[in-house]
Amino acid sequence: MELRRLRVLHMENPMGIDTNPYFSWMLESERQNVMQEAYRLRVKNSQGNRVWDSGWIESHENTFIPYQGKGLESRETYHWTVEVRDNHKETAVGTACFETAFLDKDEWNAVWVESALPAGERTAGFGNQPPATMFRRDFHVKAGCDVESARLYVTAHGIYRLYLNGERVGKEEFAPGYSSYDKYLGYQTYDTTDALKDGENVLGLYVGDGWYFSPGTTMNKEETASGHHAVLFEMRIRYKDGSEEIVTSNEHVTTAYGPVRFSDIFAGESYDSREEREGWNAPGYDASEWEPAKCRSYPMENLVAEPGGRIVAIKEFTPKSVFKAPNGDCIVDFGQNMAGKVRLRTALPAGSKIVLEHFEVLDKEGNYFNTIFAAGGVGTGADQKVEYISAGQDKVYEPFFTFLGFRYVRVRFYDANGQEQKGTDFPDVKPNDFTAVALSTEKEDIGSFECSDSRLNQLYSNIRWSQYSNMISVPTDCPQREKAGWTGDAGIYIETALLNEDVTVFFTRWLKNMAADQQENGVVPMVVPYNETYRAMAAMMGQMSNCIGPVTSAGWGDAAVKVPWAMYRITGNREILREQYEMMKKWCDYIIGAAQECGCRELPREKEQYLWNTGFHYGEWVIPSTSLNGFDDQEATGMAMVLTARYTAPIYGYCSVSTFADIARVLCREKDYRYYSDIASKMKDAIQSCLIGPHGEAPAEYMGAYVLLLYFDLVPEKYKAQYAKHLTEIIRNNGGCLDTGFLATPYLLDTLVMTGHTDMAYDLLFQTKAPSWLYEVEHGATTIWETWNAVDETGNPQHVSMNHYSFGCVADWMFRSIGGIRADKPGFGHMVIEPKPDGRLTRAKREYLTEQGLVSCDWERTGGELQVKITVPCNTTATVMLPDGTRREVGSGNYTYRCQCTDTSIYTERQI
Ligand code: BGC
Repeated sequence: MELRRLRVLHMENPMGIDTNPYFSWMLESERQNVMQEAYRLRVKNSQGNRVWDSGWIESHENTFIPYQGKGLESRETYHWTVEVRDNHKETAVGTACFETAFLDKDEWNAVWVESALPAGERTAGFGNQPPATMFRRDFHVKAGCDVESARLYVTAHGIYRLYLNGERVGKEEFAPGYSSYDKYLGYQTYDTTDALKDGENVLGLYVGDGWYFSPGTTMNKEETASGHHAVLFEMRIRYKDGSEEIVTSNEHVTTAYGPVRFSDIFAGESYDSREEREGWNAPGYDASEWEPAKCRSYPMENLVAEPGGRIVAIKEFTPKSVFKAPNGDCIVDFGQNMAGKVRLRTALPAGSKIVLEHFEVLDKEGNYFNTIFAAGGVGTGADQKVEYISAGQDKVYEPFFTFLGFRYVRVRFYDANGQEQKGTDFPDVKPNDFTAVALSTEKEDIGSFECSDSRLNQLYSNIRWSQYSNMISVPTDCPQREKAGWTGDAGIYIETALLNEDVTVFFTRWLKNMAADQQENGVVPMVVPYNETYRAMAAMMGQMSNCIGPVTSAGWGDAAVKVPWAMYRITGNREILREQYEMMKKWCDYIIGAAQECGCRELPREKEQYLWNTGFHYGEWVIPSTSLNGFDDQEATGMAMVLTARYTAPIYGYCSVSTFADIARVLCREKDYRYYSDIASKMKDAIQSCLIGPHGEAPAEYMGAYVLLLYFDLVPEKYKAQYAKHLTEIIRNNGGCLDTGFLATPYLLDTLVMTGHTDMAYDLLFQTKAPSWLYEVEHGATTIWETWNAVDETGNPQHVSMNHYSFGCVADWMFRSIGGIRADKPGFGHMVIEPKPDGRLTRAKREYLTEQGLVSCDWERTGGELQVKITVPCNTTATVMLPDGTRREVGSGNYTYRCQCTDTSIYTERQI
């Protein structure tokens, strides 16, 4: 047996943490049936003094084990050892380390410094921002005293790129990312030991607007109001002779503008190569003309150490083709829709300009089409433009402070007089001069899926690309239009997200921001970080629906409970439940309070007070047959309740409260468990007696109403069969197509399986008419669309996003049904392996790196025989169920099974 993947706070040897660490490790063994029986954790500080010894603990637990030793010190390196004993009496040892940052904010010596250069007003759109600011600080390293270690702690108002002695430090983009800055501003830690040299050294930070100042995301705080980029940094240098030196941001920092003439995280960037300042961030440069930065007493309480979750380049694409569109435009096609930017090589004459306009889809004729154009006011991304002005040299340029959502770029050229060059003047566009760089927050790829149907494989690829594109610092709706942390989207997609990539660090950060953004009355905003744009939008929604106080929506705010719960179920993360407990509780109390404001006088008050049926709600959102800008039929009360909110609000409210009761039980909080489970059962009763009519009538004749009521077991027993049958009828009457929105789609196929209609679930998956998943694939999608008919039958694209991960939630179902793997204990402590090989498929392979290790199910059908190869990781057990009724309980190891399997044998389940 060996120990692998030793992690602290779910990261390998993290540097710069400021929260109580938790530990995880994985067992690996050649043997079968290996279970951990006991473990012992020991932690030492850099002097070798022991700060914790857990002693031997008889337990199977190997993940999310909190540190319980002596108080940790700031800026200290700790080494930890874990010893494990398994059920075969074998032992194994592993060691790793972690390092703390500032545990007490008073320990910072640095002060905020801000640029004194004129910044001017900012407005949305391309070109209405100030230039990016260069911050320069030179400092001395004592000659002759070797540097033992150096750490740099940095953050900014804006987004920064870091240099030391002319070299870029790290590969990350857009640090410190996007957050609810006034309550949460991340700072990063860098190991700069090897980059320092004796004598003069220079630290350079190039800072652009980023999310902090963008008119599309601004928080409108005092600091933002000043309009000036600002930085905070502190370097701690330890010499081998035991002395220490501290270099900080202070009055010695100087500032200048450089080649980035303006930048906006939505609209794009303009770069003038003639304004470059060669060597500005290295020793020997004359910065005597630079403007000294101003010291500011900006808050420090919001600083949070961020050891991981950095935005990086994940893949590069060379053009698939470069072509002249029917209208004469020059277009580069990278073949894949993504979030990122384009690296450009150019040698245009001095003063001439190349402009790249990024877009997602061609129109019917094959010309440039801007999908964002009609978004009207939300976000400021309509331009998605990058321009480069040449200094007459051969150069490679990649935007510094923006990212765009695109598959294509339209390329335009302007001469030094600003005249667009067209026709025969058109410069030669060489494919090799363009490289698309896809960006995402760094996360480990831990899941894969592959099967015999290439369309499903393309669908899976589209899902993965929408996930990459919408996980840049925070989970977003789309990477080109709003780039906003819409809670509802994350809530419906979270399971799939967790089953594709290791998103623990990413979502932990976002949930901290969610807690920071929770309103006094418990409201969890519809968008986190809750920026000015969405505060204004929520206020408008509130006014239109006569709601007092901050508004949110069922299914959006509910991500507060759903996301941590999914993290717990899939990875076993109890710590996230503890950390978010108060936020979840406050959210449930808000729902319970909102339910008490009765919205419908005809219903008996003693029941109705448990129905959440007041306030503003989005309803199911983007139901294909009724969607009008996303909303569905509105009731007489106007925006207050779209028709589908009649059921989405009470059902999602019930789900949050009953899930929270389960969470209280997991954490042994008995009193809360009793209280919230009692309310949940009253909510269920209210749904059954008020929402469902006296003769079993559904609250509305929508597919989603049947799906949600059945899936969450809210249909009284006597009506279940009728509901299940009716659901299949509605689907048939709809031409065999789905008609569900955001809030019901994640449960649609599962509901059909649960009610004995697996065949129909597969029919929906294989459907190629719109609305369906494969319609998108067959119409050229390389990411998941916001709406099912984003490109219509005739090839006309709509003004909607081509890159929303939400409906990609079907992958979770594909992993369980086709892939055949599901967890039935938190963190895959026990799992069920039960592939359902539909007749349209001859093979499939699903692999997933659980917290315990790799699980895999690889099946192939030849003739009437099915062969299933399975891998079960150590420290877990599995129930294997095959279509011929075979059932086996197995421990870790590799197994191969064969059984008879006809095309229909998977459909002979009980039908209700
Ligand atoms: C976003 C969605 C979001 C919705 C709210 C849209 O503009 O793109 O994905 O959830 O608004 O209903």
